[in-house]
Amino acid sequence: MTIEGLQSGPELHPLQKAFVSESALQCGYCTPAMIMAANALINTEPEPNEDTIRENLANNLCRCTGYDRPVKAVLKAVKDMKENRNA
Ligand code: FES
Repeated sequence: MTIEGLQSGPELHPLQKAFVSESALQCGYCTPAMIMAANALINTEPEPNEDTIRENLANNLCRCTGYDRPVKAVLKAVKDMKENRNA
């Protein structure tokens, strides 16, 4: 799967939406890998904690964001996806 494959028609995936809403990207060079790594994590562990998310994203180098915002975005996506499952 590629970053484009996450999207469902015109609707962005919750991870993609959260990266935008949490301003988790600047140049965007690392963003596809960050999102795909987060998606792989969420597929095996739907509600990871912050430490697990940080560990999972650690192999993706970002020279812009300082990692806090991508982690915050993944936490937001996890929360949004949980709310959607419970709706
Ligand atoms: S947003 Fe620029 S390298 Fe991550």
